[in-house]
Amino acid sequence: MNILVTAGPTREPIDPVRFLSNRSTGKMGYALAQAACERGHQVTLITGPTCLQPPAGTHTVPVETALDMLDATLAHIDGIDCAILCAAVADHRPKSPSQTKLKRSQNFPSTIDLIENPDILATLGRLPERKFFLAGFAAETDNVEEYAVDKLRKKNCDMIVANHASGLNTGFEADTNEVTLYFRDGRSVGIPLAPKLDIARAILATIEGA
Ligand code: CTP
Repeated sequence: MNILVTAGPTREPIDPVRFLSNRSTGKMGYALAQAACERGHQVTLITGPTCLQPPAGTHTVPVETALDMLDATLAHIDGIDCAILCAAVADHRPKSPSQTKLKRSQNFPSTIDLIENPDILATLGRLPERKFFLAGFAAETDNVEEYAVDKLRKKNCDMIVANHASGLNTGFEADTNEVTLYFRDGRSVGIPLAPKLDIARAILATIEGA
């Protein structure tokens, strides 16, 4: 299969030296890219800034902002059999980033106006006559199942991988994860606590069988 994976955080500039971002390290997305390569798939990895080495054999496309990630995703979507959107895309960006460094005691604003970023997963979910399998992630701290199933429906994807964003051994920064996969027909499959690479292999095996 031709598989596209998004991974890592995005950075939304406030000025040339500051940005808004989140705690994503990219570990889960890179594990998915590695597992997909191991299983013989062609992988395009669209990644926000991380400290990780892209898995050997992936076609890696580095991006910075949510808008860059949307453009890169749409530019690589033709001919894809499966898209797994694992990136922690910043939902908002500063409305008017400064072109020059804001000075602490001269012009640093006390508030920053934000505008909403496009939702990349929902954009792919809306593509007319979509032929590829579309999987998203749901990072939740509470009501995990309810919010995950809601995202599955609203973003029109085929599968949502739900994980606890606040657990010590799950979600952001952890080396392990514990997830539940939710499908459109109401089925769900739990994958117990394991290293992210093992979770990624189990997710890929499930997609291959879907
Ligand atoms: N996502 C995306 N583009 C965005 C925001 C999220 O593609 N602008 C994708 C993520 O890659 C993930 C899924 O949507 O696959 C869910 O992301 P999550 O951060 O859990 O949810 P949000 O849509 O941001 O909703 P909320 O903030 O209400 O939890």
